[in-house]
Amino acid sequence: MTTSVRTEPEARPPGRLFRLPGVYRPQEDTALLSGVLAGDPRIGPGARCADLGTGSGALAIALARTGAVVVAADISVRALASAWVNTVLRALLIGLLRGGLREAAEAGPYDVVVANPPYVPSPAPAVRSTRAWDAGPDGRAMLDPLCAAAPSLLTRAGALYLVQSTMSDVDKTRYALAAGGLRSEVLARAEVPFGPVASGRLKYLTERGFVRPGDRAEELVVLRAAR
Ligand SMILES: C[S@@+](CC[C@H](N)C(=O)[O-])C[C@H]1O[C@@H](n2cnc3c(N)ncnc32)[C@H](O)[C@@H]1O
Repeated sequence: MTTSVRTEPEARPPGRLFRLPGVYRPQEDTALLSGVLAGDPRIGPGARCADLGTGSGALAIALARTGAVVVAADISVRALASAWVNTVLRALLIGLLRGGLREAAEAGPYDVVVANPPYVPSPAPAVRSTRAWDAGPDGRAMLDPLCAAAPSLLTRAGALYLVQSTMSDVDKTRYALAAGGLRSEVLARAEVPFGPVASGRLKYLTERGFVRPGDRAEELVVLRAAR
């Protein structure tokens, strides 16, 4: 039996998604990243793409709809199960991978890697219920390993798209990418009100200098990095 998958010229948001309890709901960061993918000629039929930390599969689905061959990785089994349901409902084929950077690198390299990693500074390391957003004392628990792994994840002409908050130091990300030979540029910025996670730890974030007293919003930034 053959399945025909209608491809579309540009990655676009996937609409309403099924999520098991605890799986990240696609939010402003997801939309901001998804919004910059349109128009990249690397993305399209046959392109090899990876979505690292796929959650419910929002970004993976946006890529797969263009005809790209997509690997969606996550450490959460619930996330992968949710992503699977969402791809089946849309008659899309996506490779689901349990794991993180190492496992994704083994299945690479990729023409395009997208990542909306956890980036909220947290007083304690992430636990199972908070690992979608908690990213350790500097907010970089996944960002630093991702920057270090990026050159090996990408084909020669490949590109990494990632979104993060300015709370977790965008310059540090750009320096780390440059150290691996990747030039980065800011493609989008958006100021968004603090969500429940940041609001719930404003005292900590303010005391540590991640936000200024009185701040009620953070800035999200989308970077693209390539050789
Ligand atoms: C902010 S959520 C983003 C989910 C989805 N990409 C979106 O934008 O809606 C981050 C995701 O990364 C996953 N994650 C956290 N740490 C990870 C790691 N070390 N390796 C792989 N996935 C990880 C979480 O389980 C979560 O699904």
